[in-house]
Amino acid sequence: MNAGDAREPGARASGPRALPYGPALPSDPAEPFDPTTPFGPADEPRPGGAARGSRPAKAADTLTAHDRSARGDAARWEPLGMAVTPVIDLRGIDKSFGSVKVLHDIAFSAYPGEVTALVGDNGAGKTTLVKCIGGIHSPDAGEYRFEGRPVRLGSPRDAAALGIEVVHQDLALCENLDIVQNLFLGRERRRGIALDESGMEELARRTLSGLSVRTMGSVRQKISTLSGGQRQTVAIARAVLWDSKLVVLDEPAAALGVAQTQQVLEIVRRLADKGLAVVLISHNMNDVFAVSDRIAALYLGRMVAQVRTADVTHRQVVELITSGVSGDLGLRR
Ligand SMILES: Nc1ncnc2c1ncn2[C@@H]1O[C@H](COP(=O)(O)OP(=O)(O)OP(=O)(O)O)[C@@H](O)[C@H]1O
Ligand SMILES: [Mg+2]
Repeated sequence: MNAGDAREPGARASGPRALPYGPALPSDPAEPFDPTTPFGPADEPRPGGAARGSRPAKAADTLTAHDRSARGDAARWEPLGMAVTPVIDLRGIDKSFGSVKVLHDIAFSAYPGEVTALVGDNGAGKTTLVKCIGGIHSPDAGEYRFEGRPVRLGSPRDAAALGIEVVHQDLALCENLDIVQNLFLGRERRRGIALDESGMEELARRTLSGLSVRTMGSVRQKISTLSGGQRQTVAIARAVLWDSKLVVLDEPAAALGVAQTQQVLEIVRRLADKGLAVVLISHNMNDVFAVSDRIAALYLGRMVAQVRTADVTHRQVVELITSGVSGDLGLRR
């Protein structure tokens, strides 16, 4: 992490995001962002990426969990952008494994059209939270709202039915199957009683080219022959293919080189620009600041802050991650 690489609040550039590794993201000509979309005042999240231009911090944006509990309204955590219904809105989530409590009273939301970075040190509870979001773990307590409605997920299948796709830290692709087979695993298309191989191939090709993936040869390549970045792309494409509303990526660029990281980050940004809510877990502050609209920081299983990326510096986020506090943000000592 680059603790010293600070940027000033509100320093986010407007328009297509220039990633630090390469050129600005091309906008999708098929689905141009309409800046006139009636989606509330300029401060609020909207499809096409939220933080456009610099603006002063709103008090509600930077209110920390502790400030709220100090005011006695922790149980009524308000989402950061109040006019837009979050795709996912968690409140008071607890999770223990045996006698070890891993998540404490977690509040977390993610909005359509935005990348929310979920950060925290090793063991902070990020993957556990993601597994609760994806229906793998059942929280012990708390409220889980999806598009404003309370839901209870009994399995990953329930999550998928709502439009939640999780790309797990360990990826969970089948090495011995090809790209098409992985994309459609468990949801194969059929023509009569036979598999619709050509239909699936065509859709796989379209999905990958819709993500501007150019480096993969054939959609019939086995996963075992792909590089780490290409595997990530297939996993992300699976999320796109199923018309998801929320895509969660657990450290997608952890083992990738510079060029592949750039490619994955561009895809992450493009997903949000298509209107999906994206949750990105990353330890790399450059990646977090390059693509995220909001940052949620976990410290020892507690959500210590949820802020707009434009309102904080690298240094503040690193302090939140390592000590749970940074100035007025985070836990109060
Ligand atoms: N199935 C489990 N049984 C018992 N303890 C677990 C289980 N899963 C996670 N933990 C514990 O919960 C804590 C949080 O783990 P988690 O994997 O959520 O961290 P993380 O923030 O994703 O870390 P990393 O950045 O290393 O991936 C750790 O102390 C871990 O040992
Ligand atoms: Mg993890």
